[in-house]
Amino acid sequence: MITIEENKMKDKTALLESKIEEAKIAGGIDRIASQHKKGKLTARERIHFLIDEGTFQEMGMLVTHRSTNFGLDKEHFLGDGVVTGYGNVNGRLVYVFSQDFTVLGGSLAEAYAEKICKIMDMAMKNGAPVIGLNDSGGARIQEGVVSLGGYADIFYRNTMASGVIPQLSAIMGPCAGGAVYSPALTDFIMMVENTSYMFVTGPNVVKTVTHEEVSSEDLGGASAHSTKSGVTHLTYTNELECIAGIKTLLSYMPQNCEEDAPSIPYESVNELRIGLNTIIPENANQPYDMKGVISETVDENSFYEIHKDFAENMVVGFARLAGRSIGIVANQPAFLAGVLDIKSSQKGARFVRFCDSFNIPLLVFEDVPGFLPGTDQEWNAIITNGAKLLYAFCEATVPRITVITRKAYGGAYDVMNSKHIGADMNYAWPSAEIAVMGAKGAAEIIFKKEITEAQDSEAKWKEKEVEYAEMFANPYNAAARGYIDEVIKPEQTREKLIKAFKMLENKVAVLPKKKHGNIPL
Ligand code: HXC
Repeated sequence: MITIEENKMKDKTALLESKIEEAKIAGGIDRIASQHKKGKLTARERIHFLIDEGTFQEMGMLVTHRSTNFGLDKEHFLGDGVVTGYGNVNGRLVYVFSQDFTVLGGSLAEAYAEKICKIMDMAMKNGAPVIGLNDSGGARIQEGVVSLGGYADIFYRNTMASGVIPQLSAIMGPCAGGAVYSPALTDFIMMVENTSYMFVTGPNVVKTVTHEEVSSEDLGGASAHSTKSGVTHLTYTNELECIAGIKTLLSYMPQNCEEDAPSIPYESVNELRIGLNTIIPENANQPYDMKGVISETVDENSFYEIHKDFAENMVVGFARLAGRSIGIVANQPAFLAGVLDIKSSQKGARFVRFCDSFNIPLLVFEDVPGFLPGTDQEWNAIITNGAKLLYAFCEATVPRITVITRKAYGGAYDVMNSKHIGADMNYAWPSAEIAVMGAKGAAEIIFKKEITEAQDSEAKWKEKEVEYAEMFANPYNAAARGYIDEVIKPEQTREKLIKAFKMLENKVAVLPKKKHGNIPL
């Protein structure tokens, strides 16, 4: 027999259960079906695939908006259009918010923003990453300025959390207007091809203002932002791949700026990499793929490239060396000869600063002919932008190692993690050419008179080029001065790096006391 007390309890439990069911159904089955039809998962399905089974703890499931404008008093959705909480990814704590497009188009308003702020504050206090799954029509139009305030509350927290805990933003639907600035303030943006887009002003406004006709996809889709603007760091063909990408990315990072990234167990075997001996072509002007050097050097299949399709003359990404997480910055001779330009400098600088913020040691592979000449570069501020990369390296206090594989010319030699700007160990291969410029150009300038006055100018030029190359196109002048710690055979690279990073494990470097520096933005 059930007592009255038990019966009351049953009603109350049933009430709770019905509320939970209501929250889970969110905007209703029709809108869920419409979401699926667009090739998109729902907010909860995304969390289901992201978070380790049984670990997700939802917070604020019963939160509702407080607005009475434009009929909102008659429409209350439990959770208010965003699912928030915490759980584990591969056993490590993360905080997550997942915007629910089935509720008022995932639009952001007062209570919704409060939910996001709450988990961000907890993430800061408890030192764990925040993952934002974005799919929203922007500010909830019915709530007006309150929505804008909500965005600003989030922007402020994004900025305060920057460099304290990793912040990852996956864009899985619309992300437009000022709403783009929360992802933009986070460490990494990932987009799903064909179903996500980001822009400050959409195609209609663009048409009115500039008379350009452009689709949402062309203006702000994954392809535009991964190749043209560099706004997105990673793109995926579908949402499940994107979620797998979030997990992979997290595996290279610590939980917060006080910790080191997790290592995976590693047993030393034969560390010689014979394949590296034949990578550099005989002809110094012939390209080769620096990604081949990277993959031969690091732990098998551990290289995870960031910004793959943007500024391809620079390669950046995470990898593991003897099980330890490292960040790689490398010139790419196979694209624009690996020259430094505005975009590649920005790309490299941003990556260096992420790694430095989160105690991830840096490895640089250098083969750089210099900075890209031209009015386009000068007028668009290669001076300021090149300085970003220089500044980022100068300021980085994590263990820093450089391997010069071939060219290290001019100012680019200084910029690419040279010993002079604080690198800890600098290696060069015998094929390295550390000089002010290439031998041909140098001969033309310093032997101009002799070349023009010679009977056979071409032959004279060649002779002087060879003379200059013999003197300077090698690593030995730099090694003689200690700018290079060791000239090594390519096959020794992995072994040397493992030992040097181990030696640098407890590095302590302190920057001068200051409020903050003034990186050339
Ligand atoms: C309230 C919204 C909404 C919004 C969409 N909805 N956006 N409700 N505020 N911002 C609602 C719709 O009314 C609809 O409700 C449901 O979400 C789905 O929208 P649809 O238009 O049917 O979906 P779709 O065709 O896929 O188009 C998606 C969309 C479009 C492209 C995002 O909805 C759209 O253009 N929305 C307005 C975008 C916008 O202008 N936002 C404000 C930007 S300004 P029902 O009930 O039918 O399901 C901004 C400033 C931020 O964000 C500033 C921060 C500093």
